Amino acid sequence: MARVRMFRWTWICFWAAIAGLCALAPTEGQQQCPPLGEISPCSCTVKKNGLDILCEFTDQQHIIDAMGKLKGKTLTIFYLKLRHNNLRKLTGFIFLGLDIRHLTIHNSSLSVVEEASLSSIGKMLTQLDVSQNNLIQVPSQAIRNLNQLLILNLNHNKVTSLHSKAFQGLDTLEILTLYENKITNIETDAFVGLEKKLKRLNLGGNGLTKIPQKSLAILDMLKKLEMQENRISDIQEGDFEGLKNLDSLGLAHNKLRKVPAKVFSHLTVLNSLELDGNNIDTIDSEAFVGLEENLQYLRLGDNNIHTIPTDALKGLHRLRHLDLRSNNISYIAEDAFAGYGDSITFLNLQKNDIRTLTGVVFENLNSLETLNLQNNKLMHISEDVIEPVLDTLKVIDIVDNPLLCECDLQWYKNWLRNLRDKDDDLMQKKRAVCIMQQEHREYSLQSLPLEKMNCIIKDYGLVNAGRGEICRPIGFLATTGTVLYVTVMLF
Ligand SMILES: *[C@@H]1O[C@H](CO)[C@@H](O)[C@H](O)[C@H]1NC(C)=O
Ligand SMILES: *[C@@H]1O[C@H](CO)[C@@H](O)[C@H](O)[C@H]1NC(C)=O
Repeated sequence: MARVRMFRWTWICFWAAIAGLCALAPTEGQQQCPPLGEISPCSCTVKKNGLDILCEFTDQQHIIDAMGKLKGKTLTIFYLKLRHNNLRKLTGFIFLGLDIRHLTIHNSSLSVVEEASLSSIGKMLTQLDVSQNNLIQVPSQAIRNLNQLLILNLNHNKVTSLHSKAFQGLDTLEILTLYENKITNIETDAFVGLEKKLKRLNLGGNGLTKIPQKSLAILDMLKKLEMQENRISDIQEGDFEGLKNLDSLGLAHNKLRKVPAKVFSHLTVLNSLELDGNNIDTIDSEAFVGLEENLQYLRLGDNNIHTIPTDALKGLHRLRHLDLRSNNISYIAEDAFAGYGDSITFLNLQKNDIRTLTGVVFENLNSLETLNLQNNKLMHISEDVIEPVLDTLKVIDIVDNPLLCECDLQWYKNWLRNLRDKDDDLMQKKRAVCIMQQEHREYSLQSLPLEKMNCIIKDYGLVNAGRGEICRPIGFLATTGTVLYVTVMLF
């Protein structure tokens, strides 16, 4: 009996739920595409939040006509995408009477945005993408009423200068991207109006030669600033003053030669700093002052650095990821990682000129998980040097080094042996080899002929055996369950 009642209740609930959905439905149900062909050559599909309308490879008149057909129908156009058109000019009132939430005008030769073209959709528009067009300046008059806008994309245009108050009115804007324009000049008040909400700013791929400090200084809420691929040759103390919430700074692929003292000292919450692909050869010992408490990612690859900049890095006790690939480092001092190495989990030294690794060089790297030494000039990597990090290491890459076949490379061979069942594929892709000089041939480290080399063969398998000279076990192999693998790191 109880069961029948339960059953009945289940049904009642079920129908009640359906009725509830139906009650909601009429508002959603109104979203219907116009009859087939009516807005041709544009097409329409119904999406969860409204219509998705696409007009491609057509011209201004067809677009104006299609917009006319959509008017007065109380539709929500969630996406209006105009791509690959001939739409040199966006005329006044073209969208009058429409409710558009996301507007894209992409690769359509757009160069004129008339003042009254967008104001009618300002109350609803949250995203505006006018990328890959011919705009030579920010259409400030046309966009200033877009007071719900969150994202503005002006990438791949021909903007040469950001004039004063270019974005005024966009009080809600959170993301502004101007990647790949031709900006060489940013006026002091260019970003006025964006100070309360702007979180991300992309000025990459332009022609800036210095940091537009005064314009940027008002952006209190900015978290991510991208200025990669410009022509900035010089940065100095005070350049980032005001950016007190900045989390990520991208200065890769500029023309920097020096990182001077205290240049980032105002960026006290900075987490990630990209300086790769410059010509940096000098890093002041106080270069990273101010970043001590938060910096975790530091990219210094593709520069002209000759030594690990230990003095500069010393205070960075949160540093996890240090990338020094493709530099000109030939020698690593034994105390190179003293003071800050403890927190590093990722260290990339590939494509340098490193010839030797001596003594206790890795001793401070107590958290190291990934070590990339690929493509250096190393002839020996002895167990003594590598042993301090073997406990924590999950990935090591030593391919492309002129290693000599020596008994002291047994640790690697043994490591591979333990890996064999785990990730054979990966190992087959790229093998570390050593050179057997007497025989003028190479051996894979995996099949080092230890007997022929008259090595004392260490027995790594005996975990608890006496820790004598000969069979000192490498603790990590037997004691941790970590899946270790040699990775071909694809950088
Ligand atoms: C841009 O649009 C034109 C048509 O106007 C098209 O031929 C061209 O392939 C498009 N370019 C890209 C990169 O999509
Ligand atoms: C690398 O450094 C050595 C000396 O330390 C120098 O002779 C060489 O020119 C440098 N190479 C580059 C590409 O700067």
